[in-house]
Amino acid sequence: MIDIHAHILPSIDDGPETIEESIELCKIAANDGIEKIVATPHSKDGVYEAKSDKILKTVDALNLKLKENQIDIEILPGSETHIHEGLVESVRSGEVLTINNGGKFILFELPFVFIPPGTDKFVFNLKSNGIVPIIAHAERIAAFQKKPELVSQLVKVGALVQVNALALTGRGGPIEKKCVEWFLKNRWVHFIASDVHSLTGRPPILSKAVECATRIVGEEEARALVCHNPEQIINGLDI
Ligand SMILES: [Fe+2]
Repeated sequence: MIDIHAHILPSIDDGPETIEESIELCKIAANDGIEKIVATPHSKDGVYEAKSDKILKTVDALNLKLKENQIDIEILPGSETHIHEGLVESVRSGEVLTINNGGKFILFELPFVFIPPGTDKFVFNLKSNGIVPIIAHAERIAAFQKKPELVSQLVKVGALVQVNALALTGRGGPIEKKCVEWFLKNRWVHFIASDVHSLTGRPPILSKAVECATRIVGEEEARALVCHNPEQIINGLDI
């Protein structure tokens, strides 16, 4: 399995504080059958401004430590950004890191309370510029919880959708669970990821969520959300 949304790098955002904690998280992920993790530190969210060069260096340092500790996981670079003016230019210049630094797929977070007017045009504009936006943890957005079909309008103009593993297992509460199940029934989900932050927060475990998704969409489709689809985008390929 491949986890495409993870705050796994040490002392770069609100993820783990130390490299030892990062390694512990990677051990948990490896035990769950995760082989690759895309590190997606917060960037350009007004609080955390993880810089691309620091992300790339920290990814290399963590991979080295994982090898030394014989933990069979590969960390790939990425980031989690916000909708902002000039995102296309930020991606082109490398200021905002795309998934696996491939220049094509970008993980972005919407405001939790409302969908900013013009988000559909923003998604369309990104797509027209060869950049595919992935909506991070869509089930946590209050506007989607109230009206899940709103997500389909963004999917129609080219967005992909990521949901959190814990929302499926119910640890995110009944509202998130209902929302994510609705998305799945309508086939509006492209990825299940952990959004891991720490040892005490969301763990880097995907297998339990795949079991829950299997009951809704069947095993083949459920596994595609953590295997085939993530594999495609880390290789820069469409889904
Ligand atoms: Fe995140």
